[in-house]
Amino acid sequence: MACFFRRRIAEKLSKTLQQSEDTFIPALSAVPVFKKQQSAADFKLSISALRNSQILPSDGDIQLQTEDLATQLKQDSVVEDISAGCGVINFKVNRQLLVQKMLETFGKEQDEKFGLNSELLSRLKRGTTLVEYSSPNIAKKFHAGHLRSTIIGNFIANLKQSLGNNVIRMNYLGDWGMQFGLLGAGFGQFGCQEKLKQNPLQHLFEVYVQVNKEAEHNEDMKQAARDFFRQLEQHESEAVSLWQQFRDITVDEYQHIYKRLGVHFDIYSGESFHQDQAQEVVQQLQSRGLLKTSERGTGVVDLSPAGDMSSVCTVLRSDGTTLYITRDLAAAIDRSEKYRFDEMIYVTDKSQAGHFHQFFQILLAMGHSWADRCLHVPFGLVRGMKTRSGEVVFLEDVLDEARSRMLHNMSRSKTTKEMHDPEDTAEKLFSAVRMFQDFKGPLQSDYTFDWDRMLQAQGDTGVFLQYTHARLCSLIQKNEGAEADMFDPSLLLEQTSITILQHLLRYDEVLYQSAQDLQPKHLVNFLLKLCHLIASAHRELPVKGSSQDVAQARLRLFGRACSVLADGMKILGITPVDKM
Ligand code: ARG
Repeated sequence: MACFFRRRIAEKLSKTLQQSEDTFIPALSAVPVFKKQQSAADFKLSISALRNSQILPSDGDIQLQTEDLATQLKQDSVVEDISAGCGVINFKVNRQLLVQKMLETFGKEQDEKFGLNSELLSRLKRGTTLVEYSSPNIAKKFHAGHLRSTIIGNFIANLKQSLGNNVIRMNYLGDWGMQFGLLGAGFGQFGCQEKLKQNPLQHLFEVYVQVNKEAEHNEDMKQAARDFFRQLEQHESEAVSLWQQFRDITVDEYQHIYKRLGVHFDIYSGESFHQDQAQEVVQQLQSRGLLKTSERGTGVVDLSPAGDMSSVCTVLRSDGTTLYITRDLAAAIDRSEKYRFDEMIYVTDKSQAGHFHQFFQILLAMGHSWADRCLHVPFGLVRGMKTRSGEVVFLEDVLDEARSRMLHNMSRSKTTKEMHDPEDTAEKLFSAVRMFQDFKGPLQSDYTFDWDRMLQAQGDTGVFLQYTHARLCSLIQKNEGAEADMFDPSLLLEQTSITILQHLLRYDEVLYQSAQDLQPKHLVNFLLKLCHLIASAHRELPVKGSSQDVAQARLRLFGRACSVLADGMKILGITPVDKM
């Protein structure tokens, strides 16, 4: 695999430049393949990277340096050709060896984690990563932002896990605050236990809307809400048990929806868990001299560089109750003690970037240096996520509608009739479509949700990935038993197959890059390209009608491509389908 060749080239460089092999690994990269133009080189070495890391002097003429180094490096039976390009040195490896190394472990046990043992990926720090995502608010809308957080967080967790980290997936529910005062007080008047059991999310939301309306003009209702919330804060059992019921039912319901999305959590925490600790945080801030009182009587932390209160963050209301950020501070401190994470990642829309910035700043001011290992991954807004009947309130409605639209599209294809569980396939197709839509650009950009565009079967969409995977599965299935233990690499020297292997050389680099900036677009583009290459290979490297050993070799190539495709899709959070 890629590491074999990288190592060989690094050895060469190490001998010539008298530095350890490892220093060259990051400067070496597989050459991306392009549609029209065939690339003769497989790897390239960036001379400016060597200059930046002071392996080469940074004052000389870069092109001269490049050419000079290229002539010093000797080719051999593995690295067949070495040439100077523009600021890079190109390496071409022996074709037959390329085929052999890329495919020899296929189907064997040590191949389980394709690419993970790569030199490049082992440079990444491994440890415990806590990823917090989804985090909807009970009784309020599960909006498009929560859905986006769910799928982005799931991607980050999958990626970190596949890179060998111990990952904790956490959902931090908005399960505390004044809305529970309203809900608790309103439930007696507008709520119904029967409806709550039948359709909990909808019913809680209805009650919440009604009681909010009522409270607008009814002082008694407002007072009742305040009373209820105070009872909650004082842990009075009746109030707590009603609240607990709302929470339990909601979590059950969400778990069901997450399952449809192929997402799970290890821990359901929430703001409620940290209400007492939030008061302790306030005391700690006070004892460290960080808590100031504003003119309005609220408790604030001064975050201005000059210490002149020109930029403050409120952590305490004037009535002594805590806020969202206070609970976040408490929750983070608690997590650092409980889970001893090496990094913690929060996924929310970009409107909360200011919140996270202040929150991390306060942690640092409190002396929690691990706040440097906390990261907020912001994403852009999704506009116009609507169902036929109008504005979306419940995620389940979107999923139901997506499933039915997808089934409708699928009904045109004849394989649907042979399908075991078309509904399940429809769901997986839609989830591929959705992830794809969300992931193909930078996470920070906003986009508009558009059913028609989303469900398009043609072009570069999630359906294309699923289709390619299903087609490969069917090819492999049809030829079950035909693969042999041995294969002859000289039967796969056509450019089409070499191009696929060259592309696969990049897989670990793509994962490496994704781990650096946590952006899924690198993987999306890599997989798309792979699917296009596979489509050409289906045309140009037929299995049917070829001699047995050619067929075996080609099946091995298709099998390898299929396993990388499936691996990448799973990291994105897409469950590959075998049939469609
Ligand atoms: N529940 C919040 C919301 O819906 C998101 C929570 C994000 N996580 C956090 N630790 N603040 O806006």
